Amino acid sequence: MKGLLLAGGHGTRLRPLTFTGNKHMLPIANKPMILYGLEHLIKAGVKEIGIILGPIKEGVVELLGDGSKYGVKIKYIDQPEPRGLAHAVLVSEEFLAGEPFVMYLGDNMLKQGVKPMLKQFEEGTYDCVIGVSEVRDPSRYGVVVFDDKKNIKKLVEKPKQPISKWALIGVYVFNEKILDAAKKIRPSWRGELEITDAIQLLLENNCKIGVQFVRGWWKDTGKPEDLLEANQLVLQDLKPANKGVVEEGATITGNVSIGKETVVRSRTTIRGPVIIGEHCEIGSNTYIGPYTSIGDHVTIRNSEVENSIVMEGAYIDCGKRITDSLIGREAKIIGFENNVPKGHKLVLGDMTYVSI
Ligand code: G1P
Repeated sequence: MKGLLLAGGHGTRLRPLTFTGNKHMLPIANKPMILYGLEHLIKAGVKEIGIILGPIKEGVVELLGDGSKYGVKIKYIDQPEPRGLAHAVLVSEEFLAGEPFVMYLGDNMLKQGVKPMLKQFEEGTYDCVIGVSEVRDPSRYGVVVFDDKKNIKKLVEKPKQPISKWALIGVYVFNEKILDAAKKIRPSWRGELEITDAIQLLLENNCKIGVQFVRGWWKDTGKPEDLLEANQLVLQDLKPANKGVVEEGATITGNVSIGKETVVRSRTTIRGPVIIGEHCEIGSNTYIGPYTSIGDHVTIRNSEVENSIVMEGAYIDCGKRITDSLIGREAKIIGFENNVPKGHKLVLGDMTYVSI
């Protein structure tokens, strides 16, 4: 059993955060998103993993290397243009060498991991096992339409009409038959070879498709608000830990994890779940509210931050309350209360979003 972990694409909906790096390197609860998928594959016993990379590679190869530090073998496979998930399978043909494989979309967060789907595949005689999860906005996903007996009637990619509430999650187990199907399908309206269409072709050719109704949460992190939600879901299970220094006069409640060399100054309140990285300075006169992740080397003073992701090296000293925000690496938010002329002074990169 091999693994394919997809980390290509341009991450256009997450700009400007993806101008400077690969989307799959964005942190969820202080861990690059791609590691969640990789760890799931490793836990399921997959030892040979192909990582599909597009033009934006920054950080991925540096982080994962040849896989030896994770006890697996990693091979990087180039997908120069984002031509679809079935295309990603096609460019991996040589790596897959006819073996069955788990395909994991690197921007998917899945509480149950991949083990249950692998188990179903291995215990049955399936050509493919798909996972489905109930959603409110099926037009964003590939969906599976079932008959009364929960047999698959058809699969449709991003249906305009809400024909099913069951979305295909971004984890699939296949045998070699998917390659033939991927070779036969035509690009969709968005110009991509859709894996959903390839699975529909398997269905039409009477291949055996297993369905898993996934337990626990699943999140596709396509948009900024999805990142915040994924962050919340992961932080729900945060274990408290303190490797830093909490000064007298600071108040910490709920599950809070504080990294090494981090100082929480007096007159600071932190209400978990909150994760804070290493070498940070938090406070004083600061409130950090639930569902906030703060990366390494961050300074936050005289400010309130809640339900947000603050990335490495950011600096916040603004006398304001920041909520539901994604703050990029080394970003600065500063208040100049006494300076004239008064007003918000902004240096914003292309496609930045601010609500003031
Ligand atoms: C892709 C698939 C879609 C699936 C989704 C899961 O969508 O095409 O069928 O439901 O991943 O994350 P995309 O991320 O390309 O919009």
